[in-house]
Amino acid sequence: MDKKEILYWLKETDENRLNYLWEKANSIRKQFVGDEVHLRALIEISNYCVRNCLYCGISIKNKNLVRYRMTEEEILECVAFANKNGYRTIVLQSGEDPVLSAERIAKLIQKIREFADMAITLSVGEQDGATLKLWKEAGADRYLLRFETSDEKLFQKIHPSAHGKRLQYRINQLRTLKELGYEAGGGVMVGIPYQTYESLAQDILLFKELDLDMIGIGPYIPHPDTPLGREFLDNYRLDKEKFVPNNELMTYKVLALTRIVCPDTNIPATTALATVNTSKGRILGLQRGANVIMPNITPPKYKKLYELYPGKSSADDDPEIIHQNVLNMIKEAGRIPGKGKGDRQKA
Ligand code: 5AD
Repeated sequence: MDKKEILYWLKETDENRLNYLWEKANSIRKQFVGDEVHLRALIEISNYCVRNCLYCGISIKNKNLVRYRMTEEEILECVAFANKNGYRTIVLQSGEDPVLSAERIAKLIQKIREFADMAITLSVGEQDGATLKLWKEAGADRYLLRFETSDEKLFQKIHPSAHGKRLQYRINQLRTLKELGYEAGGGVMVGIPYQTYESLAQDILLFKELDLDMIGIGPYIPHPDTPLGREFLDNYRLDKEKFVPNNELMTYKVLALTRIVCPDTNIPATTALATVNTSKGRILGLQRGANVIMPNITPPKYKKLYELYPGKSSADDDPEIIHQNVLNMIKEAGRIPGKGKGDRQKA
């Protein structure tokens, strides 16, 4: 699919024609990655962050947020829960927290490695090459780092404290990750203010160019305690001709198109999607291209504080309940829970 066709679909509104897109994405999903839905247990280990991303609720500039950092014991308890419930992947996510030093994370990875045969995914922001290498050698398998947008100007606007690091740095990080032997994950938010259709189409082509192993796509959700959220809520008037709306339908379009363009990659039905449609978001995601769910098993007292955006789906629920809900969802979508680690199987 070329850029022109991607743009056509991003602007399509006719329900019948969109049904064709959903069906095409679903059949490609079935053909390339099958009916298994891989589960990744997500643990949000710290909400400290030194960065000032304008969209993000855990940015250093948000003074209305209580900060936490899980202890190693607490993290390992979560890992034990995941292991007991059949999860074969653990995702450790945090802000860019300097107290979680390279060595400290490396030790944690080693401990998890000794303890359980699980794939370990990290999602802890931009890091230097030596750190990424250390963690790979300690036993990490995968790394998530969304590039958020392929529009350089917009990237710079929404990442002001990047210490001169620009979009190209982020893209190079993804390339480095692959060179180091990680499975690399990227992704974008759909409908960040001033995101053009043109750039969103380019985002999808960049997924392909980078040959990403995992691609996370969710709607932008304005957070009132962030500069971009305030701008969105107070002043932003969407110019429908030019800019992309941050709605559920647009997110499904990007998901479906991504599946068609990158047929063998792992794509989650994201928490942000579940946040804009609690009862059906993930199920529809699974039926329109996704093949992964990342149940959040962070203890509720911390999970509530990991507030990238407000209204986060199932923020109050205990891990047991979340686990059951996810299994039901998979069933309702007509699918089966994955059995192995769910590595990307390259076509
Ligand atoms: N709305 C939606 N997604 C967000 N993220 C951060 N802030 C928001 C928001 N306000 C996403 C970013 C980041 C991922 C961990 O969460 O894409 O990479």
